[in-house]
Amino acid sequence: MSQTHPDRRTFAIISHPDAGKTTLTEKLLVAGGAIHIAGEVKARGQARRARSDWMKIEQQRGISVTSSVMTFEHEGLVFNLLDTPGHEDFSEDTYRTLTAVDSAVMVIDAAKGIEPQTLKLFEVCRLRSVPIITFINKVDREGLPPFELLDEVADRLALDVCPMNWPAGMGGQFEGIYDLVDPAIMKSGGDASRMYEGHRAKVAGLDDPALAAELSERALALLKEETELASACYAEFDAAAYRNGDLTPVYFGSALKEFGVVDLLDALANHAPGPQPQPAEPAPVQPGDDAVTGFVFKVQANMNPAHRDRIAFMRLCSGKFERGMRLMQGGTGKAIAISRPMLFLAQDREMAEEAYPGDIIGIPNHGTLRVGDTLSERTDITITGLPNFAPELLRRVALVDPTKTKQLRKALDDMAEEGIIQVFYPEIGSNMIVGVVGQLQLEVLISRLDAEYKVEAKLEQSPWDTARWIASDDAAALKAFQADHRGASATDRDGAPVFMAKDAWEVGYVTQRHPAIRFTATKERV
Ligand code: G4P
Repeated sequence: MSQTHPDRRTFAIISHPDAGKTTLTEKLLVAGGAIHIAGEVKARGQARRARSDWMKIEQQRGISVTSSVMTFEHEGLVFNLLDTPGHEDFSEDTYRTLTAVDSAVMVIDAAKGIEPQTLKLFEVCRLRSVPIITFINKVDREGLPPFELLDEVADRLALDVCPMNWPAGMGGQFEGIYDLVDPAIMKSGGDASRMYEGHRAKVAGLDDPALAAELSERALALLKEETELASACYAEFDAAAYRNGDLTPVYFGSALKEFGVVDLLDALANHAPGPQPQPAEPAPVQPGDDAVTGFVFKVQANMNPAHRDRIAFMRLCSGKFERGMRLMQGGTGKAIAISRPMLFLAQDREMAEEAYPGDIIGIPNHGTLRVGDTLSERTDITITGLPNFAPELLRRVALVDPTKTKQLRKALDDMAEEGIIQVFYPEIGSNMIVGVVGQLQLEVLISRLDAEYKVEAKLEQSPWDTARWIASDDAAALKAFQADHRGASATDRDGAPVFMAKDAWEVGYVTQRHPAIRFTATKERV
């Protein structure tokens, strides 16, 4: 494979709402220059036309597609920042997005420490050993002491922590940030245009008189004391341990006041891994493999309500992708010509003439591509590891106007494709059951049914709250189980058998009594 293209850093920011992800994203884009990828965009006229199409769609829908992926080039590297929806109810979508990144930045609010959503997302990263850089945000405000924050990360996440910089005071006493790796002091009072270089003064070390000139006596004394203690308490930076997901380098900063943002960008450039192998059957896809292979991790439907227009976001795992290529859709074996692939730049999108492992391209389609799909020049490969999660809320969908059954089916199908809901077809009765992980998904469902599909529907309580996919090596046992539990049996959109249960306790009970049946809370698309 050609090595002349810039290397990639494909990453996501994980955080609890309000920790500062949006602010940090913006500042990273500013610090990174958020510029186009030179040399990769050739068909200017065509690209401009495509761009205006998109703008129109976005205005109509009042959404921003661009925010799903933000690509920028900085110092010879291409950064692909994937947005993870912040709300916890959309965790399923978020989980899938995290399967498409090679590393993550965990943002923690200095006043709050680790919050529930941070923890959940961290656990997903850990499942895949995704390396994590920690950014402790808002040190310009009163927060927990640095040691307490570091210990919390170490204890609750069972990670070695390695502070890379240290705040000189916090909150009202905040005077700047000291770089522990390449001694320097970043002082407050910088403006945005100086973010990149302006307020960083190199010093020889903590005893350098130049440092004393920059900080108050009190702040300097505290900084010396704390950093001395820190160097005794915490691990040294170890690139291999970070890449294994065993150690997290920690940056203190303030996204709002632009502290630590450049250090974070440099850390991503210097330490974060480039494209990693992707789990697949029969063998993992290596970024250096010649054949183009990628997978769809997200689908955004109804970009334009008048058409079945949707964008599938594909992460490229191997090979050099070129516009117009025909790729096989795993499972169906259909060849799909990718003639209008989109590349997402910070404020724009362009036609992607070519793309490399780690890149994300948007593929406009009419509903043929689904989350979890493998797209490859090869016919014998399936990317794995994109699970569906067992729903925690199941509701019956009842139509107010029974003549709208067809529209309802289509709407539920669309939204299931986007991964917003799951749909189950019960053995008994004609009402479809929707399954979600959180309440907000139900609200989105009802409002979109009304606004986009003109279908008035009500959600009714169902006797069940959760579901498990069922399978068995003993076909007769599976059949017997389904026959005994007809009232609680259903199939999912792919026809896979599902058992619906009142609660987790019932799942446990039934699981124990039927050892021949496998009950799984996640289902991978194959
Ligand atoms: P999110 O995407 O993670 O939900 O967080 P977002 O960036 O929206 O930030 C949440 C709030 O925290 C915002 O304030 C934002 O200005 C503030 N914030 C982010 N980074 C910092 C920081 O480094 N220091 C301080 N002091 N505040 C920070 P808000 O009042 O909710 O919104 P706004 O009215 O300021 O926009």
